[in-house]
Amino acid sequence: MYPYQRNRRLRNSHAIRSLIRENTLTVDDLMMPLFIVEGENQKLEISSMPGYYRYSLDMLEEEIKEAYALGIKAVNIYTKVPDELKDNHGTEALNPEGLMQRAIRLIKKVQPEILVFSDVALDPFSSNGHDGVVENGEILNDETVDILAKMALSHAEAGADFIAPSDMMDGRILAIREILEENGFHHVGIMSYSAKYASSFYGPFRDALDSAPGFGDKKTYQMDFANSDEALAEAELDILEGADILMVKPGMPYLDVLAKVKDHTKMPVAVYQVSGEYAMLKAAAEKGWLDHDKCMMESMMAFKRAGADIINTYFAKEVARILKQA
Ligand code: PBG
Repeated sequence: MYPYQRNRRLRNSHAIRSLIRENTLTVDDLMMPLFIVEGENQKLEISSMPGYYRYSLDMLEEEIKEAYALGIKAVNIYTKVPDELKDNHGTEALNPEGLMQRAIRLIKKVQPEILVFSDVALDPFSSNGHDGVVENGEILNDETVDILAKMALSHAEAGADFIAPSDMMDGRILAIREILEENGFHHVGIMSYSAKYASSFYGPFRDALDSAPGFGDKKTYQMDFANSDEALAEAELDILEGADILMVKPGMPYLDVLAKVKDHTKMPVAVYQVSGEYAMLKAAAEKGWLDHDKCMMESMMAFKRAGADIINTYFAKEVARILKQA
């Protein structure tokens, strides 16, 4: 077709590039993960996540206000549980006065317009560091699901807007939907980690929460990273069981999965740019090998292009700041 077809005509200026741009990124796309610890006056940097912190509840207040002022309207919260409160059944997870429950109440009080997505999984509460009850080296499914459902109810009672199960047990979405309905929490939604892979990119997160598995790995419940059709099967089941939002995790190495899940389901889809992805960019930028902000923004647009409706990222505040300046 050359020379009549010259694609460079549409790349000639900023104006024409923006005119034909297929995707846009706004602060409305962002969700921010938060790590919460017991104690007072704590703002502790996570060594493998430079610039990212664990907050005690008193310090969390300021962080929430700052995020909201930047336009961030959704947080995904995790708590670090002291060792002495961990056991095989994650009993502390059901404590109505537990750190998670107090954190949910606090965030909704400080800024009711921020949506709280509470993490539901046993690993931060488990003496074995697994997402389920352990018996003879096996991760029990149905026993775990019973606990997860009770945990979800307790988060809903504390005021969570969305329950975010990150465990990958079979049938947990249905069990959570049922317990929420039975208790009148029709308005509380579920964001299911539908396609969560057994990934090595979660290392820094496990440092942050001290939640690394005590033995073995998570391959009997998290997905095999060789598969993508399986992600569609997981997504379909989650929809049938009552999920409102589907999540794909990790992010950048799994853009194909994200695109497939979005195309196939047409559901709201979230992507989780995980701790290892954050750490990689921070490390390369620190060495002067990559332009931090440009690579960060490029990764955001890659998620949008692949079909993400929601981007859960440790870069949320930094991205929001750049969007605000633009
Ligand atoms: C555990 C959980 C993990 C992450 C979120 N929830 C780690 C794991 O499965 O071991 C990882 C998030 C990240 O790396 O940023 N339920």
